[in-house]
Amino acid sequence: MKKFTLVFFFLLLAGASISAGPRITQADKDRAAKLVSQMTIEEKIEMISGKIDAFHTYGIPRLGIPSIRMADGPQGVRNVDGKNIQSTFYPCGVSAAASWNRDAVHEMGAGIGCAAKAHGVQIMLGPGVNIYRSALCGRNFEYYGEDPYLASETAASFIEGMQEQGVMSTIKHFALNQQEYDRHGVSSNADERTINEIYFATFRKAVEKAGVGAVMTSYNPINGTHAAENPWLVKENLRKWGHEGIVMTDWTSTYNTLDFIKGGVDLEMPRNYVTNPKAVKELLANGVISEADLDEKCQNILQALIAFGFLDKNLEADPSAEDNALSQKRAYEIALEGPVLLKNENGILPLKPGKKNLIAIIGPNANTIVCGGGSGWVNPEDGKGITLAQGMLNLGKKWNVKVLETPDPAVLKKAAAVIVSIGFNKNTESEGRDREYSLGDEQNSLVQEVAALNPNVVVVANSGGEFDITPWADKVKAIILDWYPGQEGGNAIAAIVSGKVSPSGRLPFTFWGALEKNPAQKWYAAPALHPRKNRDRYPFTTYGEGIFLGYRGVEHFGVQPLYAFGYGLTYTTFEYTDASVTKAGNGFDVTFTVRNTGKADAKEVAQVYVVPENPSVMRPARELKGYDKLLVPKGASQKYTIHLGPEAFSYYDVKTHDWKLDPGIYRILIGASSQDIRLEVPVTL
Ligand code: BGC
Repeated sequence: MKKFTLVFFFLLLAGASISAGPRITQADKDRAAKLVSQMTIEEKIEMISGKIDAFHTYGIPRLGIPSIRMADGPQGVRNVDGKNIQSTFYPCGVSAAASWNRDAVHEMGAGIGCAAKAHGVQIMLGPGVNIYRSALCGRNFEYYGEDPYLASETAASFIEGMQEQGVMSTIKHFALNQQEYDRHGVSSNADERTINEIYFATFRKAVEKAGVGAVMTSYNPINGTHAAENPWLVKENLRKWGHEGIVMTDWTSTYNTLDFIKGGVDLEMPRNYVTNPKAVKELLANGVISEADLDEKCQNILQALIAFGFLDKNLEADPSAEDNALSQKRAYEIALEGPVLLKNENGILPLKPGKKNLIAIIGPNANTIVCGGGSGWVNPEDGKGITLAQGMLNLGKKWNVKVLETPDPAVLKKAAAVIVSIGFNKNTESEGRDREYSLGDEQNSLVQEVAALNPNVVVVANSGGEFDITPWADKVKAIILDWYPGQEGGNAIAAIVSGKVSPSGRLPFTFWGALEKNPAQKWYAAPALHPRKNRDRYPFTTYGEGIFLGYRGVEHFGVQPLYAFGYGLTYTTFEYTDASVTKAGNGFDVTFTVRNTGKADAKEVAQVYVVPENPSVMRPARELKGYDKLLVPKGASQKYTIHLGPEAFSYYDVKTHDWKLDPGIYRILIGASSQDIRLEVPVTL
């Protein structure tokens, strides 16, 4: 072990590298200001709310300001001009996070950007990035898991990919939207440090590193004040990080005209519930608001639109902007990266081809393109997509695949292996409500029934997060979490179970193994846990676990998860050697070697966690601060270099309301998951 000592003075927080894609310049601001000065009061009032079909901004043709088209969402283009359309359907957010692959996520963002241009959409309503807190949140599938660093890196890659195509991305939902149950009513109550370290981090990086064009506030109140009318949230935080673009509300989340106008949000969506001319003019007449309040919002909206060139470009749909073959490739490649292999007893996977190796496929999700419900859903480009069953059939003549509608005991007994495709769907896991922890008796019984007939069961499950696997986990040989993999999901899962590609997804959250093992769960105001009789009984949920969310709470609360954050099996084994740390810029480079010691080519997600030896405040026992995913061919070695900037060692100091870095010794843990640490090196700051 090599020890690196460095005299530490005061390090500025990372000078994040600035990506390509439009940025608001002084010239854009000047041009916006000139336009604002030419607008009438009526036009200013119109400009601060959505128009036409609930997915447009207001246009002023006499000033050359077009109406701008928006569309959902994080997995592709769902809707255009009030109609659901067909468009390339990418994997869901949690799958993108489980990929731990910045390049593939960047390509996904780029692909959705191209689709947006093809359909004449200028502002996309995605990504969704709220941190995973409980398995029950109905929107976990849209989001990027429990870790702020992984979520930030995933979000920044997605946004950069999209914005480099000239399409504005909208990061949502700012902030603390961890449950869908009574999402308009329940206040998310958390302390300042927890909010900054866990729940703001992804939004902040999206602003500081990726230069996101727009931010959408959440439905929920935060510490008692609704996000769309919360000056602390928008003015004291978001704007101070440097966000000069648009801040819009979520659809129907405003309550009071004065609070909205003073709150710092620019654009009320989908229409002018509180910003209707009568209400706004009344406040102007009373002198409680001034024209300058409206000017500020119009200025923010216009300078962002100008920076993206929307006042100067042809905004018509341009089908040539999307190459469908490339989109399909992008959707396939990211779908290969997300699936997480939880269990692979006796190395049953990969399955083997051959006439004598009958592979039976059964289950409610086998013949359908599955996704969680709500605004994230997309109709696949060809209207159909590749289901799991179709993907397996596409493997070709060498494979003997039979798809069963009902459990046929004769076939199930005879099969060399059975793939059972189960999980949630748009009716059981969705925006607007929280879900059950259990998949339900019907699906659990199906797995049990099949496992009683055949010893080689492979479960492939669709979900946005953890669910109850205990009814059958020890009766099956393999379990793959396949999330909602999009239109190419069937081909991707077939490539994985057939061994064409080794699985490389890693858990982006802690899989506790039981709902009540998650320390955050007891504070989570879900209906199953806290049945309510009226709207006032549970007006808030307390984030009582604080910064010790997910794997950060493993040591703190003394609870061992079933599968750790960062975990995922593949078809080979890796050996980690030769860790060292060298000073680089205002931080360190951590280098080490990973050797593929098994029989299959595979990608390894090497993870770097930082542990302060003698922290001056309570800190998690380890925190993810770096990772990389590289292909390591069998028998070969790969050198990893992971940079840790000063932010990797910092914590949020509530006394100064800023990030702080304590000098001292830090342990750098290098491993294959948060609990599978292979190497350790100390550094002294
Ligand atoms: C969702 C947003 C979405 C909007 C428009 C809302 O219900 O929370 O994420 O972008 O609808 O469809």
